[in-house]
Amino acid sequence: MLRVLAMVSGGGTNLQAILDSVESGVITNTEIVGVISNKPDAYALERAKKSGVQGVCVSPKEYTDREQFNEALLAKVEEFHPDLIVLAGFLVVLPAMLIEKYENRIINIHPSLIPSFCGKGFYGLKVHEAALARGVKVVGATVHFVDEGTDTGPIILQKAVDVQSGDTPEVLQRRVMEQAEWKILPRAIDLIANGKVTVVNGRAVIAE
Ligand code: GRF
Repeated sequence: MLRVLAMVSGGGTNLQAILDSVESGVITNTEIVGVISNKPDAYALERAKKSGVQGVCVSPKEYTDREQFNEALLAKVEEFHPDLIVLAGFLVVLPAMLIEKYENRIINIHPSLIPSFCGKGFYGLKVHEAALARGVKVVGATVHFVDEGTDTGPIILQKAVDVQSGDTPEVLQRRVMEQAEWKILPRAIDLIANGKVTVVNGRAVIAE
């Protein structure tokens, strides 16, 4: 069984998609062993509780400096002994030590087709605002491994979503979640849990 630790900051709809997919058998060979939030009031923690998954908060506000927070975060991660860390809307820059230690064992969901609308400053609604401002006709989401850069790691899965006339950033965000994020994130976890994803020369190779 793949031991998955999810890291969250907000509403946790992606976390919910993962929990539901484990429950329904869309994700196989996987146990969600815990959820870490950097915000005590993240609704994602409530979702974890409802599913009987241990949820904990590690907030930067409880530490005097970044280094201490990073150490506490790493220590908490290690307590769960994860095989895979899933960033499901985790809005904290990961400590370099964590990225190094879990190379090719951390994945992230990003709400655009990387390399469009990604990198520093592109998170949440800003991604969808930028896509609408540019007038693109197709957007989407990407699941990728996390490396030391911002949204630069090997791409595992992508799914395209059409922009429709009259879209607002909020409407587009919701469609990207429903049609892409909630599908490809569980799918990527299932592929990894079943040994179908390898990284070769910095690229993710999928054996389907
Ligand atoms: C999603 O749009 C995800 O792509 C981004 O953060 C958002 C998280 O939403 N990384 P939720 O907390 O899963 O509802």
